[in-house]
Amino acid sequence: MAGISYSKRVMDHFMNPRNVGEIESPDGYGKVGNPVCGDLMEIFIKVKEDRVEDIKFRTFGCASAIAVSSMVTEMAKGMRLEEAMKITRDDVADELGGLPPQKMHCSNLGADALHAAIEDYWIKTGKIRPEDAKHRQEQEGEEGESCGT
Ligand code: FES
Repeated sequence: MAGISYSKRVMDHFMNPRNVGEIESPDGYGKVGNPVCGDLMEIFIKVKEDRVEDIKFRTFGCASAIAVSSMVTEMAKGMRLEEAMKITRDDVADELGGLPPQKMHCSNLGADALHAAIEDYWIKTGKIRPEDAKHRQEQEGEEGESCGT
């Protein structure tokens, strides 16, 4: 099988991911699963004056998913929550210099986990009702099978 060629930025974020880890008592937490491959991403945020003050991630996924997580946390850090809510999966892939077509689905998790964490914060602070959240949190035991790539 021919190798997949990744951009330099994807390789950089995969080899040296930014903002890896977790935040104790986060203000917002998002956990999403990728329906295509079953990989999982968690994002933790601290919020100050309506901005993403700190952000960390944990990703159980392929190289692209790790690069996407790293990039999305870097993009969102310091942003106003409303702005961070507008980051799309395509924005993240573009910032990474593109993803190979067969790995585009790996960009799904980053923006989704970020948005889930922001919605979690908004639910906790009463800005939105739980039923208005668009990003359903993954429940325990729904991990599915590993994509093996
Ligand atoms: Fe599962 Fe990339 S996120 S293969």
